[in-house]
Amino acid sequence: MPSSSSSHAPPRIVVLGSLNMDLVLRVPHAPAAGETLIGHSIATIPGGKGANQAVSCAREGGKVHMIGCVGDDAHGAALRQALERDGIDTAALRTAAGEPTGTALILVEDSGQNRIVMIPGANAAVQIDEAALKRQVQGAAFMVTQFETPMDQVARAISVAHGAGCKVLLNPSPVQAIAEPLWPQIDTLVVNEIEAKTLCGQAADTPQEAAQAGQALRARGIARVVVTLGARGAVAVDADGARHHPAPKVQAVDTTAAGDTFLGALAVALGEGQSFDEAVRLGIRAAALCIQQPGAQPSIPLRADVLRSPVPPDWISL
Ligand code: RIB
Repeated sequence: MPSSSSSHAPPRIVVLGSLNMDLVLRVPHAPAAGETLIGHSIATIPGGKGANQAVSCAREGGKVHMIGCVGDDAHGAALRQALERDGIDTAALRTAAGEPTGTALILVEDSGQNRIVMIPGANAAVQIDEAALKRQVQGAAFMVTQFETPMDQVARAISVAHGAGCKVLLNPSPVQAIAEPLWPQIDTLVVNEIEAKTLCGQAADTPQEAAQAGQALRARGIARVVVTLGARGAVAVDADGARHHPAPKVQAVDTTAAGDTFLGALAVALGEGQSFDEAVRLGIRAAALCIQQPGAQPSIPLRADVLRSPVPPDWISL
């Protein structure tokens, strides 16, 4: 079980999402078309945006339930065990007979930047049991979800959670259009620069642009938006305006799961009743630790380590 140094009651968080075995190739740089490249190393590491976000919630001190689907194979068993080692409830994690577990091929360059191709496999077999989900989200602080499981199932889950009075925290990644009726059912939206631009059509590369893009996204009916900006931190947008939260300066080894780590810390801190800005700051500190370690789930820090890490500079109103 992860240890938490938080004094708050653990918020309950339901995560609907993907589980992938990541096949990670470390390479000097991404190969050009037609180029053959000698890489440094290969590793098989538990990942998947849904599972990573669940692990981050658990390591930050949340009580986490995972809804998803793995294949009836060794990778599926390993991914289930990895979640259970973090104390995550896997009762709603289905094993689909005859389906391969989801796989992600990840190239990590010497700069720490990554390129990911995901093959959904069993993630495509996720089916929402509406009655069961309604029971699960009852009294939960958040239902967290992303777009690596089928869109129709994600949409159903958002509607069920919202209808049951559970706040929805959405990370629309890999990005695709969000159906109009879903917007007002989302409490908190976490997007990176590319996702923000795809969803609202405005550039979000600088803090000022991210603030405007965040306001445009909020206008669709969402209470809070975070636009993450990598090494430049994040911009938090709510009814009080927009604030730029700078990130601590660190040497990136591998940026995989940085966004997932951020999101888990944000969800738990908000679930504990911390302010939006304090929650964003915790997420930024957690993500800064994540990128200093290789791999997805092994790089996600515990709350105690996040609280010992350098405090970033104060946020700036935009
Ligand atoms: O966000 C990082 C994750 O994206 C990786 O673990 C990979 O599985 C892909 O889903």
